[in-house]
Amino acid sequence: MHVSNSSSRAVRRAEKYRLRLAGDEHYPDGWYPIAASSAVARKKPLGLRRLGRDLVLFRDASGAIVVAGARCPHRGASLALGRVRNGQLECGYHGFRFGSDGTCEAAPCEGPAFAAPKRLSLQVYRSQVSHGIVWLGHGAIGDTLPIPAGLPAGERGSVTAELHWNTPFPRAIEGQLDLHHFPFAHRRVFGPTIGARLDPFEAVAKDDIVTIRGTLRKEGKSKGIEAELNLAFPGTLSGTFGGMHLSGFLAPIDAEHTAMIFRYTSGVPIFGKILAWLAVQTELRLVQPDDEALLLSTGAGFDPKQNVYVPADQGFLLWLRRYHQGQKSASALQSIQTPR
Ligand code: FES
Ligand SMILES: [Fe+2]
Repeated sequence: MHVSNSSSRAVRRAEKYRLRLAGDEHYPDGWYPIAASSAVARKKPLGLRRLGRDLVLFRDASGAIVVAGARCPHRGASLALGRVRNGQLECGYHGFRFGSDGTCEAAPCEGPAFAAPKRLSLQVYRSQVSHGIVWLGHGAIGDTLPIPAGLPAGERGSVTAELHWNTPFPRAIEGQLDLHHFPFAHRRVFGPTIGARLDPFEAVAKDDIVTIRGTLRKEGKSKGIEAELNLAFPGTLSGTFGGMHLSGFLAPIDAEHTAMIFRYTSGVPIFGKILAWLAVQTELRLVQPDDEALLLSTGAGFDPKQNVYVPADQGFLLWLRRYHQGQKSASALQSIQTPR
């Protein structure tokens, strides 16, 4: 296969940052929101699985968050079971310690003179912290994070929760980028207050952000409830409902599971945080379980060809087109990198 110079440079660049993935999982290049930064403690590492990889997050001596592979290079124990000492990550098995660049700084059984070979280093992944979120960089991407308009800058006045769904990433996005399910899927929250007709409605994609906006009204009535959602590719959602701002941060755990951090922020002084807490509780107890049950009822895997989409679904189709493009280039790069 002929690869031009500039594209082989791009391949090398992508290879440098690409997480090595299992099997045929091809996640589009992008910045994936993987954790609330407040979830990473000072002394305790945080283990999580994203994009099919087991990861460990910890804070170095300056408090900066490091994202690394969770497998201890010594004998494979999960570093999520270790602890953080003086900004170094210590394995819970034999106490080997790793610095923020992944270098093995100490192997206590070998004494202080031990010179650790390079192979005993952790793989450190590209990451950034912004808007109260840890972002994992995957593939050949610049530094610009996918931030939709209106996303609150931090966690002030907000309450955050995390959910894991047994559903593939595209299907989880399909469930979120959807205004017309509210009057039915969330009937127990909204009752008969919301009309079912979505009109007017528009879905646009610009600069990797899909915006859906429309009015849910009762048939025959001209007024209704206006709603707008913005989703920055691949998985950052921003929307405003009844004066409360909702941020959603979605990332694949693996091909079959999706993690979703969601956060409500209220601008109301003093009671704002209580209102945000109530909104999160409503999500956790009423809204998301209904969404999840309906998504799970659609069956395993995700094959959009089995669906018959209508104009109100257009926002998701715009996202899906972008996702498939990203998947295709990711799988093309992988087949160039690993010729068989
Ligand atoms: S397995 Fe981590 S130090 Fe031995
Ligand atoms: Fe929903």
